[in-house]
Amino acid sequence: VRRLGMVVAIDGPAGSGKSSASRGVAERLRLRYLDTGAMYRAMTWWMLQHDVDLGDAEEIASHAWEPKIRVGTDPTGPTITLDGEDVSGPIRSREVTNAVSAVSAVPLIRQVLVEQQQDVIDDGAIVVEGRDIGTVVAPHAEVKIFLTADPVERARRRTSEGLAGEAVSADANQAEMARRDLFDSTKGAFAQALDAVVVDTTELSLDEVIDQICRLTVSRARIE
Ligand code: DC
Repeated sequence: VRRLGMVVAIDGPAGSGKSSASRGVAERLRLRYLDTGAMYRAMTWWMLQHDVDLGDAEEIASHAWEPKIRVGTDPTGPTITLDGEDVSGPIRSREVTNAVSAVSAVPLIRQVLVEQQQDVIDDGAIVVEGRDIGTVVAPHAEVKIFLTADPVERARRRTSEGLAGEAVSADANQAEMARRDLFDSTKGAFAQALDAVVVDTTELSLDEVIDQICRLTVSRARIE
């Protein structure tokens, strides 16, 4: 699959198990890995650090080209730097999680990040996770997966992940995720590609999810 430069696009909402599944698939098939959500989070962290008014879309857009975001694509240790500094910790903070929808809803921000994502994808051999990978970032991906899970299960997973060690109740998490989903699906990018294979992860173990995606990917790998 690496030689063939396949692109595996994995989209879905928060708590659907996207990140663990995407990394697992990349590790098993020896592909690279790109977490596009981390890029929107890094962009948001920059805006917060520079006191940008997140209620003002034009102001956000005016800074779109300033942050220098670099991502590492090793699935066993993905890295992200912002202006040369490691921001893998702060981008998982509650502050960023609550602000990221406002930043990712700005069209120019999306345009800038989608271009950078396409540069990283380059000639493929990569698993890419996000919200608009199968539709916008990599519409020609050989494999498109849309992960879903029951909302209660998604909130439970998010809570046990313990976002940056901050204690939040499952109920508060569920309410916040519902708010974010609604925002993402109306103002942001949150579309399911028509040709995506839907995998409901509610009743599946992580290993079972990884197995399903790997099998589908190998079956789509064309022999040269
Ligand atoms: O997957 P995540 O929770 O790390 O994503 C953070 C936010 O970024 C989420 O609210 C939606 C947004 N996002 C996006 O708009 N497009 C993507 N391709 C990935 C994430």
